[in-house]
Amino acid sequence: MSTETAPVPTSPRAVRAEGAPNLTVTPRHVAIIMDGNGRWAKARRKPRTEGHHAGTQNVPRVLRCLGDHGVGCVTLFAFSTENWARPRGEVEAIFELLAESLKKEAEVLHREGVRIKHLGRTDRLSAALADEIRRSVELTKDNSRMTLGVAFDYGGRSELVDAVRGIISDGLEAEAVTDEVIGRRLYTEGMPDPDLIIRTAGEMRLSNFMLWQAAYAEYYSTEVLWPDFDETETIKALEAYGQRRRRYGKVDDL
Ligand code: FPP
Repeated sequence: MSTETAPVPTSPRAVRAEGAPNLTVTPRHVAIIMDGNGRWAKARRKPRTEGHHAGTQNVPRVLRCLGDHGVGCVTLFAFSTENWARPRGEVEAIFELLAESLKKEAEVLHREGVRIKHLGRTDRLSAALADEIRRSVELTKDNSRMTLGVAFDYGGRSELVDAVRGIISDGLEAEAVTDEVIGRRLYTEGMPDPDLIIRTAGEMRLSNFMLWQAAYAEYYSTEVLWPDFDETETIKALEAYGQRRRRYGKVDDL
């Protein structure tokens, strides 16, 4: 008789139907570095902004797919503190895309029980975008079915700088600073650490994303460009996660 026990599904929706992919272990939090919009556009001889448009249109289907598979928290890396170095027109186009998406989708997300959380700074954003972010965060703040983190003007180092400043201004003694204290001062306060970080378009780096929170995340990189990253690709990433053995620095049972 085998002494092995079956993995315990982490959500009711994670129970596997016969013949369905192995999605018995569901990540609580999936964070996505949505890369490759520019290459997608270039391959079609279109301006880069068309790639960002296609990338924005791709967001709902991936969110839906993750939600349907029991993922309760998703973070999208939409604009980094380094992206300010891009041409002004491209930066403005990305701002407009996010503002339009929030205007159009915040009510829908609200009805579906999604809490929107902004991760990043707002002081350098256009007033219109900052207002839209504030409005959608406020509207959805009491929802609990899913949390959607929108990392916009986000940088892992700036986040740590902001956390340290907060801790100092609270007047804490050095000995009182713990992992938990730092965690409560991060933009992701109240969210679990990401279990799975997906990066599209083939790069193998974190690019200043969730430096603290990624400590034990499983990493999944695919060549597929973000606008082409559909439900099938999402499920492939979840399956790959299901195959990982997370040991958190410990050794397996001997
Ligand atoms: C990376 O592709 C993509 C971005 C920097 C912008 C992503 C923004 C969106 C999809 C729009 C708004 C988001 C939401 C949440 C609605 P890249 O331009 O670096 O591509 P490349 O590496 O091929 O040039």
